[in-house]
Amino acid sequence: MSFEDQLRATSVEIGTATINVLNQLPESEILHAMAHAMNGGKRLRGYLVIESAGLFGVPRTVTIQAAVAIECLHAYSLVHDDLPTMDDDDLRRGQPTVHVKWDDATAILAGDALQTLAFEVLGGLDASGDVRAALILSLAKASGAAGMVLGQAQDIAAETARERLSLDEITALQANKTGALIRWSAEAGAILGQGDKTALTRYATALGLAFQIADDLLDVTGDEAQTGKRVGKDAGAGKATFVDHLGVNGARTRAEELVNEAVSALESFDARADGLRDAARFVVERRF
Ligand code: IPE
Ligand code: IPE
Ligand code: MG
Ligand code: MG
Ligand code: MG
Repeated sequence: MSFEDQLRATSVEIGTATINVLNQLPESEILHAMAHAMNGGKRLRGYLVIESAGLFGVPRTVTIQAAVAIECLHAYSLVHDDLPTMDDDDLRRGQPTVHVKWDDATAILAGDALQTLAFEVLGGLDASGDVRAALILSLAKASGAAGMVLGQAQDIAAETARERLSLDEITALQANKTGALIRWSAEAGAILGQGDKTALTRYATALGLAFQIADDLLDVTGDEAQTGKRVGKDAGAGKATFVDHLGVNGARTRAEELVNEAVSALESFDARADGLRDAARFVVERRF
């Protein structure tokens, strides 16, 4: 099976589990908006949770739930990212964004509810209290003012900064904005399996940066029909990106270096880590 087929199969599994979680909630317009936001996407973060947990022999029924949690958190970040006061986007995953299909208030609230749902799902995991607490604590840190939210704030501030950000500053911004949730996804497997997360942290730190560079490249070289979102917007919006500093080829070279770094971090693992190795290569080759 090709990596893309494997990712798609895992995505379907996560999608089914997501529908079961959403079905527990009372019927409401917010629920419809949440379901819309959770529909589609690569579900790469969920895939990373499942593959990293596989290294430690964690039962799949448990890891699928943790995958649903991170995908809820990620979907919330996208719904808010697309709002008019943030990136002002009208297309996501090939569909109208939540604030376009509904309105801003619904998008804010659906995002809020997806965020809290992520923690509710982790709280209900079939795992020990210590494991659940560790997952909840680490996801809270990765998501908030020391992680994704900080990175989003840095991203928005860079649009109007008087001076262009340095490469080091962009690296720090992207490690927060995108890196933190990707790091959590890979580390979650070790937390679930109560194993050593050092190698997975190294892997995911490099992978997260490569992932955002690839996203920035797709904004320049990508195709709307494949990405399912608008392209060609970052430069005009004043976004701080590697592409802006290094050009398309320079950014691609940097992303490839990071992928090699990610793969070499997995040296100590056997063929069970092949899914993670393939994911690293996919991240820079992807067209969506
Ligand atoms: C998009 O993430 C936002 C970034 C962090 C770059 P993805 O490219 O993983 O989006 P989906 O989940 O597949 O739609
Ligand atoms: C968004 O980065 C990252 C988060 C939502 C945390 P982008 O703004 O580049 O993502 P896209 O391109 O809209 O998917
Ligand atoms: Mg953004
Ligand atoms: Mg955006
Ligand atoms: Mg982008």
